[in-house]
Formats: sequence, structure tokens, C-alpha cells
Amino acid sequence: MNPLQTNKRRVGIVGTGHRGTGTWGRDALAHCGGHMAIVGLSDCNGKRLHAAAANLPEDAVVTTDLDGMLETAKPHTLVVTTRDDTHADIIVKALEAGIDVITEKPMATTAADCRRILEAEKRTGRRVDVAFNYRFAPTSLKIRDLVASGRIGTVTSVDFHWYLDTRHGADYFRRWHAYKRHSGSLFVHKATHHFDLLNWFLDSDPVRVFAQGDLRKYGRNGPFRGERCTGCAHAGECEFFFDMQKDPWLVDLYEEASAEDGYVRDACVYREDIDIYDTMTAAIRYANGVQVSYSLNAYMPIEGYHLAFNGTHGRIEIRMYEAQAFDAPVGRDEILVLGTDRSVERITVEHGPGGHFGGDPLLHRSLYDPEAVDPMGQRAGARAGALSVLTGVAATRSAETGLPVEILSLLEKG
Ligand SMILES: NC(=O)c1ccc[n+]([C@@H]2O[C@H](COP(=O)([O-])OP(=O)(O)OC[C@H]3O[C@@H](n4cnc5c(N)ncnc54)[C@H](O)[C@@H]3O)[C@@H](O)[C@H]2O)c1
Repeated sequence: MNPLQTNKRRVGIVGTGHRGTGTWGRDALAHCGGHMAIVGLSDCNGKRLHAAAANLPEDAVVTTDLDGMLETAKPHTLVVTTRDDTHADIIVKALEAGIDVITEKPMATTAADCRRILEAEKRTGRRVDVAFNYRFAPTSLKIRDLVASGRIGTVTSVDFHWYLDTRHGADYFRRWHAYKRHSGSLFVHKATHHFDLLNWFLDSDPVRVFAQGDLRKYGRNGPFRGERCTGCAHAGECEFFFDMQKDPWLVDLYEEASAEDGYVRDACVYREDIDIYDTMTAAIRYANGVQVSYSLNAYMPIEGYHLAFNGTHGRIEIRMYEAQAFDAPVGRDEILVLGTDRSVERITVEHGPGGHFGGDPLLHRSLYDPEAVDPMGQRAGARAGALSVLTGVAATRSAETGLPVEILSLLEKG
């Protein structure tokens, strides 16, 4: 089929790594193939691009030249799944070409890039959607509903602690995420999800942050180091040894492609030049007076989060179990609603099918199904994308300087 002749929403993807090829390629077609067609694929790495194309529809325009892809495939929507620091240039280019954008989080990694995107969206009249899939997890929706219901009175403070285990957390230290210049640090790359959830749950803007960050486990803290896990002399003794050669999907997408640009999927987590933090805390103040106590740790024996809203009449709390060595609920979460009158309600929420506890398929439907409705405001635009990035940028700056940083002023200046 000629890709220009489809009646469905024409979608181009730039950045055909794991997320672009898997979530936004293969999975989006499975969820929404009746509404959208992938008409173009682009990536600066030609080998990865062609490995990805072999997994996706044969009739897409496949080229390393993004301008050429936009011109030939004429997408209505460009999905941006490249490295974080490259999002802004690509988003602005697409908007200026009259194309709507769905970008992976974080929308950008600097305040200046957030401002450029907001300005381009306004100037061109096109739309940017930011792929905050956690908003679409059924548990998140229930929490949003409970917080908005007033059940615990006025929310005054939030405790939010996110734990990455040594499998998932280590993965951020194997690749480009490990450098602030590419990811903005985990305060931006990872916490953008968490800060966006807070903004959405609280329906308010973050105004000020005071944060601390340290690198305590990875990078220069390692007892030894090599270049990459494949062929490493320390494989037998390293707690982070990762045998990517056992995963045909990773080999297919990354191993041969690394010959083209030197980007290996299993670089040593103990590289001495790693400059992001693995241990982070932040105190955030919101425009509505809510105080948030946040932390992110990337080398835990558990994966998941603790979240609690403290209010004038009670507390909503959840301990989300994602991966741990002890028995815990599987496939569902329990939310406790506790009143200052000693009342206790236990609410069970089942996870949905698909990635991110059911968030990924619902996000795809909300973006591609023309009949989709959005009563809870789950779709996130460029302002939401910017606010969560700016909290992370401000937290990183605060950790570097030891001073509190005003968040909203970053919307106006660097
Ligand atoms: N929402 C989520 O839960 C979630 C999960 C994972 C990743 N992500 C985001 O998705 C994006 C992709 O992540 P990934 O793990 O697939 O990364 P990746 O490194 O595996 O893939 C990125 C691809 O982009 C290409 N690329 C880099 N710069 C480019 C440029 N300027 N032009 C064209 N191509 C370029 C690379 O060659 C690579 O193929 C990132 O922004 C990441 O933060 C989001």
C-alpha cells in the first residue's frame, strides 16, 4: 500500500529504539491499528532504523533523513522517541512543518527548550501531547478522583517516595541517561513522571523547590570497572552484570547498530564520568500551599512507590508494590482512606492489561481514537510537560547550588 493513501491518522516515528519501535510502533498498532497507520520511520542510526523497520509495517517511508521522511510520508502526527536532549529541536521542526507532536517524556531537558516548545506551539497553532502514561494507570485515576473528592478535607502535604531496584535503576546508568547533558539527570528524566502526577493530582502548579542529590552507588563508587558487560573480566563478581546477549530484541535493535555510533546498550554502570545522582530528595511547595516531600533512589531491593496525601480531615495512602523479594499483592493496588474520626476504607484497584499497569494502551487510545473522551484531563499538553521538566531542572539546580529555586520563573527566563 502507498503510505500516502491511508484514511487513518498518518503517524511518523523518529527515534526507533526500544520505546519508539516497541511502545509507539508494535504496541500502538496492536491497540489502535484501526485508527492510525505508521507511514514513516526515522532514526539517526541507519542500522537500528532498519532493524526496527523489519518489526513494523513494510509500507512506511524509512530514512535517516527526518526532513525527507516528513516531506514524503506527510504524517499528521510525529511521535518523538529520541534521546531526551534532542526532543526540543525535533518538536519545533515538526510544529513548524504543520505537524502535531506526541513526545515521550521528558518533553525537554532545559528551561530554554521548554520555552521554545511553548512558543512554537502558540505560533504554529499545532498541538503537542506529552506521553505521561502513568496518568492512565487505573490506580492513578482513582487517586486523582479521591484527592479531588474532598474526602480528606484540604490537602496540606504529600509524602512521595519512589524506589528503583538494582535491575531497573541500574539501567539508567548503562546508557546516555547517565549524563546530565543528555537526560537532565534523573530529577528530569525519571522524576518528570512523578512531578507530573503530583501536578495533576493536586491540580496546582509547583512554585519552589529545595533539593539534594548524590551519587552513592554507581559511577566512581564502583569497586572496579570495565567498558561494557559483554566480555567484561569482572562479569562473575559484578552485582550489575547484565547479559544483553540473551535478549534477542536488544541484540536486534542495539548490538549491530552500535558499530555505527558506538552507543552500546550494556555500558559499565561504574564509568567514572557518570554525573547524574542516584540518591535524591526534594521539598516542593505548590501554589495552593501544599508541601511535598519527595525522594528517588535508584539502587533499592524494592521497586515501586509510597504515596500519601495528608489533609485536614484524613489521609489517603498507598504502597505500590512493583518488584520485591517478599510476598505482596500482584496485579492490584490497595488504597487506604483514613479519617481523623478513625474511619478506615480499603479500596482495591486492579491493574489494567499492557505496559505501565494498563497506562500505555489507554494512553494510545486517548491519543488515536477519535471517539475518546477525557473527563479527568488525563491528556497532557506542552504546559504540563514543561512544568514537570522545570521542577526537575530546578531540583537539579538546587542540588548543585545548595539554594532553593523558584520554578515558575523558569517559564519566563533561564
Ligand atoms: N514513558 C515511559 O515510560 C518511557 C519509557 C522508556 C523511555 N521513554 C522515553 O522514550 C525515549 C526513547 O527511549 P529509549 O529507551 O527507546 O531510548 P533509545 O536510546 O533506545 O532510543 C532512542 C533512539 O533515538 C535515536 N536518536 C537519538 N538522537 C536522535 C536524533 N537527533 N535524531 C534521530 N534519532 C535520534 C537513537 O539512535 C536511538 O535509536 C526517551 O525520551 C525516553 O526518556 C519513556
